[in-house]
Amino acid sequence: MASLSPEQIIEGQRQDWNRVAGGWEKWDRFFDEQMAFLNHRLVGDARLRAGLRVLDLGSGTGYPALLTAQAVGVSGSVIGIDLADQMLEAATRKAALLKLSNVTFRTGDVTILPFEPASFDAVITRFCLMFLPEIPKAVAEIARVLKQDTWVAAAVWSAPDKNPYLKIPIDIIKQFMELPPPDPSAPGIFRLAKPGELAAMLQQAGFADISDEEFLGDVRFPSADHYVSSLLDIAAPIQNLWAGLSSTQQKEAKQRIIEAAEQYRKGSIVALPIAVRMVTARKPT
Ligand SMILES: C[S@@+](CC[C@H](N)C(=O)[O-])C[C@H]1O[C@@H](n2cnc3c(N)ncnc32)[C@H](O)[C@@H]1O
Repeated sequence: MASLSPEQIIEGQRQDWNRVAGGWEKWDRFFDEQMAFLNHRLVGDARLRAGLRVLDLGSGTGYPALLTAQAVGVSGSVIGIDLADQMLEAATRKAALLKLSNVTFRTGDVTILPFEPASFDAVITRFCLMFLPEIPKAVAEIARVLKQDTWVAAAVWSAPDKNPYLKIPIDIIKQFMELPPPDPSAPGIFRLAKPGELAAMLQQAGFADISDEEFLGDVRFPSADHYVSSLLDIAAPIQNLWAGLSSTQQKEAKQRIIEAAEQYRKGSIVALPIAVRMVTARKPT
């Protein structure tokens, strides 16, 4: 199959994430409660404080833009940018409910940022960069829009083996269909899992004081059924694979995912491990 152009990949991403926007809104409260620790970590890594002007890349339904808006306060401001307008509509609704007047969302591609050079005091991003067809281009854009002596903090998924939360359904879907061997340079969930890969791109773009750390945690579900239903509602790349199964296969696959997830039961909850690569760097003076 001919490989897709960057424009085709970006258009696919836009469609994929718009399609799951309803699922993100449906499970919003649960994932906010379960994964807020990652947003707090990003806020710390980016050295956020009152008064800063911050850019969140691939904000989706507002993570970590909404927490960022609280961290920088009314004297600061946040812009969240994302391809998927339906994800951003949910983010905007949440900002209004939280009475946050210092955060705005706009649609756009993070590889072509519509901002002046040196116009932000920090850039943060959670689970977006690995989906880009041209990551170094986005990294160069981050370097361009940041002021001197400010920080970028990024969260991307680490290796599949350390992420049963994501690996279980992918492995089980593979029991029903043959998938081509993963192309390590193709955009996808684990594209930036390798230690040092994003860090090297940041170094290439002139960043300093780079750190690259694996941050371990888990997502705790009230049941294995809750786990599989919520994941299939929000994880666009996994939903794409799932759509290739017949309804009988989906039924069987769901049962196998539930059985695999049950191995992570801890008393009344099912705790699926996650490993997130936190990469932080400073734009030098
Ligand atoms: C897994 S979601 C993460 C959303 C949010 N940051 C979070 O952690 O909940 C990935 C997001 O990246 C966005 N995205 C993917 N490629 C993008 C691009 N080239 N420019 C802007 N946003 C992009 C998608 O539209 C989607 O909302």
